[in-house]
Amino acid sequence: MAVADGISLLDALREELDCRSVKDGCSPQGQCGCCTVWVDGAPRVSCVTPVRRVAGRSVTTLEGLGADRCDRWAAAFVAHGASQCGFCTPGIVVRLAALEGAGNGRTPTRADVEAALRAHLCRCTGWQSIADAACDVLEAPEGPGSRRSDGRADPLPAAWRAELEGATFQSSGPGVVLGGGSFADDTAPAGTPVQLGADAPLAPSVRAARAGGGRVQGRNSTVPLSHPLEPPAGEWALTLRTTWVEPAYVEPDASWSPPGGPPASPLANGGAFGGKRHSPVPGRALELADAAGEAVRVLWRREDVVRNGPKRPPLALALRPDGSGTVRIGRTAGSADLGPALARLEAWCPGVEAEVVDVVGPRVAPDLRGAVWAEVLAAQAALRSAPDPTGSAEADVSVPGGGRARVVAAFDGGGRGRVAVDVWAGAALSEVTLRSYALGAVHQALGLVWSEGIAVDDAGVPVDLTIRSFGILAARDMPDVTVRVHEGTGWPVNGSDAVFVATLAAAWAAEGRPDRWPTRRAAVRAPLRDVARSDEREELP
Ligand code: FES
Ligand code: FES
Repeated sequence: MAVADGISLLDALREELDCRSVKDGCSPQGQCGCCTVWVDGAPRVSCVTPVRRVAGRSVTTLEGLGADRCDRWAAAFVAHGASQCGFCTPGIVVRLAALEGAGNGRTPTRADVEAALRAHLCRCTGWQSIADAACDVLEAPEGPGSRRSDGRADPLPAAWRAELEGATFQSSGPGVVLGGGSFADDTAPAGTPVQLGADAPLAPSVRAARAGGGRVQGRNSTVPLSHPLEPPAGEWALTLRTTWVEPAYVEPDASWSPPGGPPASPLANGGAFGGKRHSPVPGRALELADAAGEAVRVLWRREDVVRNGPKRPPLALALRPDGSGTVRIGRTAGSADLGPALARLEAWCPGVEAEVVDVVGPRVAPDLRGAVWAEVLAAQAALRSAPDPTGSAEADVSVPGGGRARVVAAFDGGGRGRVAVDVWAGAALSEVTLRSYALGAVHQALGLVWSEGIAVDDAGVPVDLTIRSFGILAARDMPDVTVRVHEGTGWPVNGSDAVFVATLAAAWAAEGRPDRWPTRRAAVRAPLRDVARSDEREELP
């Protein structure tokens, strides 16, 4: 089929050929892997591949892998809980499927799988379940072993467990793995005019919008992180300063609406860790559709998400030996009311006084995952967990709502270390799903302590605009994580928030509680520069 020249392979596939299994998580940054396809049988990120470069060559999307192969990969991902929101998953499956038969008679190893995952980002799953699923399909010698799943997850209890963990509806199943999560931008009718970017004019197509707006390549800045708040003066048992942190959901904000609505939800299959709860895109789509008298699509680029989306607020925390103390919370112009965060703090962390301090920076939100209260509870738990000279620490945390987790973090024995999680969340409903969310919580908590944050300039504007610059931990950065789910007889409750808090505490205590997060940013970010293999990057015209 003929497609327009002068565009990326991604735009040719999604916009001109209506192939919606190929996702756009960061185009044209080439850093998330969501748009991966095969060109002549080799994986390539299609957002940085000019369509003219594939003329006369074979392009294979997920659909081209064939029904049997797709079914095998989807079944393994479901069985291991390796897909949550499902936005990153089709690209990951396409890349991992290329390992089948790629070893010239050698069976791929777990190291091969982790190397292949370098070109991808998943914010939800914590990687391990993905590697386990891949090793099952590939029959890798270092497969999941004792972590082998307990079979195909039953979709209804799995969806209930997912909703408890994500605080919003989330379906699971083979269709989600294969890209059918009903994401807003995938359901927009073909040919719908689009606003591409937060302040862009309406354009008849993505192609026209990109041409009109010029190509805005993302940047990795070298600007250091700032920690804008100081803890109060005094004798404290513990102090901690944090910075702005991007929630980093992989599906950018998107919606579309017919005149009169209703607009499509940007939360089709997951809660984006609270980051899209007040996204302006549905309202904008409705407004534009009413004005235009026809359906309109609104799609943010990655840079728009960074510039306009909410951040985790910077904090300065100081605690006495008994866990009482003060937390200063950074509030910026345009931020949501911090009242809910303060109310949670008062109810859940008695003895800790809150002070709101106005600072210059991107807008912050109180409803991002555990914002403020998680850091405070983690610091209190870390106070109870004596720093261990061997580099190992344990934290046992119960959170409001009923979940409990015990986490042992050990990073002393060389290699990548180990994290052992025990979680109690009432009736498990789906052990596979609860484990998946626990793994995701460990990944996010380690990222918060070790590597995540975004730099801002003197005017408070974010300058870390690429998805790789947020400091999200890659598969190879993760320790070996084991999760033991304790089946309860009580009503099911959220378990991953307790895992999140306990991991924050144990990981921080294991490092001796340095007074700033993140603690290892340079070490994690440096190797990421080569993340998309050079042979996959070609300049767009
Ligand atoms: S959309 Fe192509 S790598 Fe992210
Ligand atoms: S499942 Fe990977 S980003 Fe959501």
